[in-house]
Amino acid sequence: MGRFYVTTPIYYVNARPHLGHAYTTIVGDALTRWHRLLGDDVHYLTGTDEHGLKIQQAADAAGKTPKEFADEIAPLFEQAWKRLNIANDDFIRTTEPRHRVAVETLLRACYEAGDIYLGTYSGLYCVGCEEYYVADELTNGTDCPIHKRPVEHFEEENYFFRLSAFEQRLLDWYDSHPDAIVPDFRANEVRGFIKGGLRDFSISRRSLEWGIPIPWDPKHVTYVWFDALTNYLSAVGYGQDDERYRAWWPVDYHLIGKDIIRFHCVYWPAMLMSAGVEPPRGWAVGGWLLVDQEKMSKSMGNVVNPLDLIDDIGLDGFRYYVLAETPYGQDGDFTRKGLIKRYNADLANNLGNLLARVATVVGKKCGGIGPRAATDSPLAPAAALAYEHAAAAWDNVQPSRALEATWQLIRATNAHLETNEPWKAEPGPVVDAVMGDALEALRIIAILASPAVPSTAQTVWERIGMSGAVTDERLPDAARWGGYPGGAAVVKGEALFPRRSDEDDS
Ligand code: MSP
Repeated sequence: MGRFYVTTPIYYVNARPHLGHAYTTIVGDALTRWHRLLGDDVHYLTGTDEHGLKIQQAADAAGKTPKEFADEIAPLFEQAWKRLNIANDDFIRTTEPRHRVAVETLLRACYEAGDIYLGTYSGLYCVGCEEYYVADELTNGTDCPIHKRPVEHFEEENYFFRLSAFEQRLLDWYDSHPDAIVPDFRANEVRGFIKGGLRDFSISRRSLEWGIPIPWDPKHVTYVWFDALTNYLSAVGYGQDDERYRAWWPVDYHLIGKDIIRFHCVYWPAMLMSAGVEPPRGWAVGGWLLVDQEKMSKSMGNVVNPLDLIDDIGLDGFRYYVLAETPYGQDGDFTRKGLIKRYNADLANNLGNLLARVATVVGKKCGGIGPRAATDSPLAPAAALAYEHAAAAWDNVQPSRALEATWQLIRATNAHLETNEPWKAEPGPVVDAVMGDALEALRIIAILASPAVPSTAQTVWERIGMSGAVTDERLPDAARWGGYPGGAAVVKGEALFPRRSDEDDS
């Protein structure tokens, strides 16, 4: 038990929430829900990135001021996260005063440490990425490798952050924190970047108006990444509420996409070291959810709206798919066919079917009252293993593995019923024992599945006759065999996940 602070990237307000944003946010939600079950005091932060040229241009195109524009889009993220049942504790917007204070404090600290200096920048810039590129990073010699659009030639006076001075300190830090980045192969990638040599990076623009002025030279506006990264500190009171900041920092995990690894795992810890702030404890780097093998983005025109998917497959059907389908860290390919296939296999046929048959047999053979499980049940070892594997998987930020472990228990319970065929037996102690085992397994399954499918888990919980909220359970005790009290009414109810017949024509 302890504190557990997790963040998502803050999303640019030039686009509406899409499946890619939802993906990272759902992973963070499930991870933090798991930690709440462990009894941790959790702080889950998400928010919006609202400054910079990209937003200014999007606002211009919409005929609005950047603030008006951001005020319209930011709530769409908040609303989307509500509909996705995201239990974030805070939502930060970089246009808030608390953020400005933190950015100013961090800038001053780095400046006073001698790591910020004035210089001239000339280079090839992608507005989409808000980043300079060198010629050999470009596609066909002219285009941004991510946005596939020509980069622009920029030259201006900028403040720079002396990243080059941090090469060795960063390598040493990563040497002494070998598990800080998951999955492993991303840690090697980061070491590779650092060893390849670090160039100082620009942290201000004179040409830009929409942003936070550099406190000692307000002709300059803070460059978006210095601004954006600092949100993780602003939200916990850096520069304002020292006690609160000290309680939450360092963050336990920054969840990020692989596209922003260099900013988060190289620039950010160096900025923090410069300012005398401890680097993060961890980063969990996710792959991209691709649609037809392309990254989803407004400029590619292949954006999938997560809210449409909720309408199609249901909230927990969607959450489950996102968490179970792709091992976190790898790229996944989103297809509607895959969505329906997984829904039918894991939710309709496995979990849904298990609950329905248990409720039916308890109704018919046990008078509708759930019997207590035997202490020496053959399912007890399977349940212990499910917990052990799920816990290890969440420890490594691997939701798909945690769910796989949980679904093993579902399959084992279904198999136990099939072997014993209680539906064919006469009511009595034998049937009671089998059904007590199945109910106890369902109790544990509801707890283990609750981070991924919270409302379904609560329904299972209530239907098997448990009282209170499944989220109030505390691990590891709650996962120990024998917690099902017996004697409560078991309710059949409607199918949890009605089978979809359109698996082959989607
Ligand atoms: N504003 C910056 C992040 C600043 S964090 C201090 C930004 N915003 S973004 O809206 O463009 O994307 C943020 C993140 O959303 C990506 O890094 C990634 O984590 C996630 N995703 C966006 N599109 C995605 C996919 N298609 N697939 C998976 N995740 C993706 O970058």
